[in-house]
Amino acid sequence: MLDRLSPQAPDPLLALIRLHAADPREDKIDLGVGVYRTEEGATPVFRAIKAAEQRLVDEQDSKSYLGPEGDIGFVNALMPYIFGADATMGGRLAGMQTPGGTGAVRLAVALAQKAGVRRIHMGVPSWPNHAQIMADISLEVATFDHANPDGIANLDAVLTAIRSAGPDEAILLHGCCHNPTGVDYTLDQWAAIAEAIAETGVFLIIDSAYQGLGAGLEEDAAGMRLVLAKMPEALIAYSCDKNFGMYRDRVGALYMLAETPAGLDAITSNANALARASWSMPPDHGAAAVRLILRDPDLTKVWLTELDEMRGRMRQVRAALAAAGTAGRIDLTPLGTQNGLFSVVPVSKEEVVRLREEHGIYMAASGRINIAGLTMANLPKFVAALAEVTG
Ligand SMILES: Cc1ncc(COP(=O)(O)O)c(C=O)c1O
Repeated sequence: MLDRLSPQAPDPLLALIRLHAADPREDKIDLGVGVYRTEEGATPVFRAIKAAEQRLVDEQDSKSYLGPEGDIGFVNALMPYIFGADATMGGRLAGMQTPGGTGAVRLAVALAQKAGVRRIHMGVPSWPNHAQIMADISLEVATFDHANPDGIANLDAVLTAIRSAGPDEAILLHGCCHNPTGVDYTLDQWAAIAEAIAETGVFLIIDSAYQGLGAGLEEDAAGMRLVLAKMPEALIAYSCDKNFGMYRDRVGALYMLAETPAGLDAITSNANALARASWSMPPDHGAAAVRLILRDPDLTKVWLTELDEMRGRMRQVRAALAAAGTAGRIDLTPLGTQNGLFSVVPVSKEEVVRLREEHGIYMAASGRINIAGLTMANLPKFVAALAEVTG
């Protein structure tokens, strides 16, 4: 049987990691891998996480099973940060823990499909796994352009997609810090989107994987909250893997907004059943550490400071890129106002290869760059190489 399987293309980013590792040049720059890096190039464990993990080691007295909903203390402690003061939206919102944001997205689309969604509208480019997940569960995808060539979100395209959607269709939006473009909707655009969704009744799924890495924890959630306030129902996939630096510990959650508090039971029981049939229950450790942080005001302060440092560094890099103005044919100024870990520079595949081979600068073939791969020290080299290759 297994002979019938044809080999699948390897993840291109993994191939890039290998090429980068084998490159002996000391001034090589890695803009490929999607993790935060300090000015020194490290991806350290947060101090708040280290402290919480120590507490877990000292105090956790059982590793007995939890349910498919995971650590509900973690799920609930996060809610005010994501949804604001009325964290349960009048008792209409409930959540469950998932294995990372990927598990949350997977569960969200599977639940939507179980409820009757047949097609999902999605802005492109997007995080590549969105399309892979939909293909894996045979959900049809309809795409629209997320951003204009000038690096501004394409409001007309998203509104057209919403208005063209049929009754059994959904739209998937990034909550903030769009991956890969860094282009987020403005609050005015979110308001227009909210109005269009409310008018048409298209089902809304939000993927929020980078809250706090853009303009601030509250600022990054503002657009999403604005649209959710108008929604009778929605699904929100959330990741803590970036804003707590927990990548490999797989910390995520799915939140479900129901039309009425009474409607929540049926929705959450279906999500639990889907989780049970796939991963049974999520890994505990990372979510337990996040719960300890959010329930302890001192640890919360440490975490918020670390998140500020992380965001501050990325804003500094973005400001320096914008200040550089142009590099060859590339206008770098839009990168200054874009958000999060990623942006896309409009380079051709051939230019990506030249940047790698001639300058030791590694980036995805799409031109996506990890902003945190740049530092005040290596940024001039990046700008000069970009100018040479695209000039
Ligand atoms: C848009 C988006 N959603 C979800 C995820 C999944 O994150 P996690 O590592 O928590 O599975 C990512 C990770 O890169 C992402 O970019």
